[in-house]
Amino acid sequence: AQVVNADFVKSSVRPDDCPRDGLPEFALVGRSNVGKSSLLNSLVRRKRLALTSKKPGKTQCINHFKVNDSWYLVDLPGYGYASAPQEARTNWDEFTRNYFLSRENLVSVFLLIDASIPAKKIDLDYASWLGQNKVPMTLVFTKCDKRKKKKNGGRRPEENVETFQSLIREYFEAAPPWIMTSSVTNQGRDEILLHMSQLRNY
Ligand code: GTP
Ligand code: MG
Repeated sequence: AQVVNADFVKSSVRPDDCPRDGLPEFALVGRSNVGKSSLLNSLVRRKRLALTSKKPGKTQCINHFKVNDSWYLVDLPGYGYASAPQEARTNWDEFTRNYFLSRENLVSVFLLIDASIPAKKIDLDYASWLGQNKVPMTLVFTKCDKRKKKKNGGRRPEENVETFQSLIREYFEAAPPWIMTSSVTNQGRDEILLHMSQLRNY
């Protein structure tokens, strides 16, 4: 399940622009700044293949990266970025939801949740929408290296993860698979790659 090579293929702003070769793909979605681009870099062992930033709103297009010449990782802009113009946010939201519902080669959505803070309503709502629409989903908890802090609710990552899962249970017939990760320590990297290869059937 290891990554031998990974290449940036293209940035798209409309579904019609996305690659049409039908290779299986996995999309990384989640709140702005949750660590989507960092996770992608961790998975492919490259520091700056996908661009990251301390400031939310870094990724603005749908970015396709081809792995081992045979499947795609898709980096998406984050949701919930309050400083982006409302029109841009609505547009982006509509597009991604349509993409999730219609993209035939999308094997699974990887919904990233920040494990260093308590569950946020916007993330619960997003999980609920994916569940109700039966979009195949894997939960990825990020920033598990971060120690608990009072200002973050004073809970350990494990506690936040458990609470989040119990809050979304009602939206799913079967609890979605979940993986704890850190792009700093690379925790969860092999587990995600193995899970992706099982989902692709090779
Ligand atoms: P947008 O593209 O703006 O939606 O953000 P993103 O989800 O792609 O987040 P990005 O990967 O750019 O990371 C945002 C910030 O979080 C950066 O400062 C990262 O260094 C930091 N970060 C990401 N993953 C981790 C992690 O696992 N642990 C820690 N401690 N910090 C992380
Ligand atoms: Mg990003």
